[in-house]
Amino acid sequence: MAKATEIILREQAPDVEFYYTDTDKKQVYEGADFVFIQIREGGLKMREMDEKIPLRNGCVGQETCGAGGVSYGLRSIGSLIEIVRDVRKYAPDAWIINYTNPAAIVSIALNREFPDDKKIFNLCDMPYGIMEAFANLLGKNALDFVPEYFGLNHYGWFTGLYDTCGNDLMNEALLAMKPGSPETEKLNIEKSAEKSWGETYRHLVTMCNDMPGSIPSTYFQYYLYPDMMVKLSDPEYTRANEVMDHREKIEFGHAKKIIEQNSAEGVNVVADLHGRYIINVVNSLANNLGKIYIVIVPNNGTISCLPDDAMVEVDCYVDKRGPRPFNVKQASLFQKALLQNQYAMEMLVVDAWYEGSRQKLAEALTLNRTVVNLPVAQKIADEIIEANMKWLPQFFK
Ligand code: G6P
Ligand code: MN
Repeated sequence: MAKATEIILREQAPDVEFYYTDTDKKQVYEGADFVFIQIREGGLKMREMDEKIPLRNGCVGQETCGAGGVSYGLRSIGSLIEIVRDVRKYAPDAWIINYTNPAAIVSIALNREFPDDKKIFNLCDMPYGIMEAFANLLGKNALDFVPEYFGLNHYGWFTGLYDTCGNDLMNEALLAMKPGSPETEKLNIEKSAEKSWGETYRHLVTMCNDMPGSIPSTYFQYYLYPDMMVKLSDPEYTRANEVMDHREKIEFGHAKKIIEQNSAEGVNVVADLHGRYIINVVNSLANNLGKIYIVIVPNNGTISCLPDDAMVEVDCYVDKRGPRPFNVKQASLFQKALLQNQYAMEMLVVDAWYEGSRQKLAEALTLNRTVVNLPVAQKIADEIIEANMKWLPQFFK
């Protein structure tokens, strides 16, 4: 991918100085103003494991939600802490923007490990992805939407959607959410994506009707409809398999072709959602634009039913000082209960990582809405620890 990127930049942005290395940390970090991080610890093979362990036990198998997300989180925390330490050694003042999943869990761990570091923040493209989906449905541009959003990562709601003139678009958006209406197919903007993303956007229509008044994160399909999601899943062929057979083949195929012909000509490489989003957020930060983006930040009172150390995903004003959230978000009793339960679940995962505690891991899984039964949680905890043995020596002391 790096070699192909070098060729693309040489052709399309020759003024950009580009280099890559997988060994020289000093070379990559020294003098950096912005460091974008996105790692997949264990690769897609371990993602497959994260999804299949819960499914074998009758629970949702997803890379960021439920037991799969817990497994992925435990595996990612250590490497991410190491990367941030390395960056800080060579670039003490750089902004660190982290896309690594599961963002909910790793952002808590980073906040715990580096409590005084005010220049790290976490990002997820899903809320912006939903904005692009609605922009397509309403015939608008997502970058012209001003959102109101609150929750935890992959666990939040849009409570408002405005245009730059202040017009409220929420009603129009929600009115369009008619189950089965062909119009709503427009929500699925990544037409080339695998079929499970099409289903996800169909479920979003259902969820908008089941939780009236807001637009929920698509990831609530796993937490609030776990039985349906388990039924729709094939424990032998999960999302990781879909990605390995489709997206990964396409992307690596592109890279290979670019390298072979030593040119990107005729190869259709485009920035996806993640790329579009992070660049816009950082543009607002670097150039002091003061635009509003949804970012993951320490709570500090923003969502009143959650403690200060919760990492919340909310709309923030982004300028040179970094992302600053708008106070205060009003949650319904139902939302409060969901958020507090999920917050405790995520905290317990991070506690389990620091302490090497199988007990806390089983408690976290029990609180997870996709697991619930303690004996099942204990069994999954053991399978997760076993599968991630290499990454989790603290559980074997
Ligand atoms: C969305 C989420 C990400 C997730 C991504 C990939 O963009 O916000 O957290 O990593 O989907 O999902 P996929 O199943 O397509 O690899
Ligand atoms: Mn995400």
